Amino acid sequence: MHHSANSVPKVLIFDSGVGGLSVYQQIQARYPQLDYLYLFDNEAYPYGELPEPILIERVLRLMTHMVAKEAIDIVVIACNTASTVVLPHLRQALNIPVIGVVPAIKPAATLSKLAIGLIATPATVNRSYTHDLISKFSAGVDVKLLGSTRLVMMAEEKLRGTSVDLKELEEILQPLFQNIDVAVLGCTHFPLLRNEIQQVLGVNVALIDSGEAIAMRVGTVLQINPRRDNDLKQKFYPIYSSAAPWEGAALNNGLAQFGFNPVEILQFQDA
Ligand code: DGL
Repeated sequence: MHHSANSVPKVLIFDSGVGGLSVYQQIQARYPQLDYLYLFDNEAYPYGELPEPILIERVLRLMTHMVAKEAIDIVVIACNTASTVVLPHLRQALNIPVIGVVPAIKPAATLSKLAIGLIATPATVNRSYTHDLISKFSAGVDVKLLGSTRLVMMAEEKLRGTSVDLKELEEILQPLFQNIDVAVLGCTHFPLLRNEIQQVLGVNVALIDSGEAIAMRVGTVLQINPRRDNDLKQKFYPIYSSAAPWEGAALNNGLAQFGFNPVEILQFQDA
């Protein structure tokens, strides 16, 4: 194990925005005994519209810096858009475990009898990584691709207290109507809209995301068991951004509900 003796393993959770909170929630629910830190790269948000070389360079730079500065024991790239390209680079650069999240095509294929809808960012639906996943694991089930940045934005807005416009959501998801029986939430922002998406797609569409699988993976890598200690008091954890967030006060309210302190802006000069 890489984590230092006498200390609780420290998990760094990373995304472009608040989407990684959906992954954090799953990990923390299983492993409340761990120590957490969250970083989001809002300066470069949305990742779903960023050229690959810039994405790789940014994530590498931020992760290398954070891991050294905060004595991190394990990194979770809680972003499909980043994971589909940066994981090999990160694993080469860091000497601690790196866990990523990719669209849950495989479990979706075992469930689907009709067709699968993959809802993700524009970048993710275009990646060859995603197309490889589909041809390897979709088991011949048709996969319909839907890339949307607006959906990511709607999750950001919801976390800041704005209620989701179901009409707008309906327009975005319209191409999937009547066509699918399983939808893969292939962007970590989308479980934050789970109820609304379910409402719009209807009860006959099963929604699948990768959150729980990621949580279990963390436990396996750290060789720890889930804890269901209700008297383990929920701590508030630090959260950093790479730039001043918009609607900061509203954001802090939403973050508090997930158990985070107000956002701190990362002081970080490139060497
Ligand atoms: N949350 C991210 C994902 O899982 C991406 C959102 C963005 O486009 O920045 O893909």
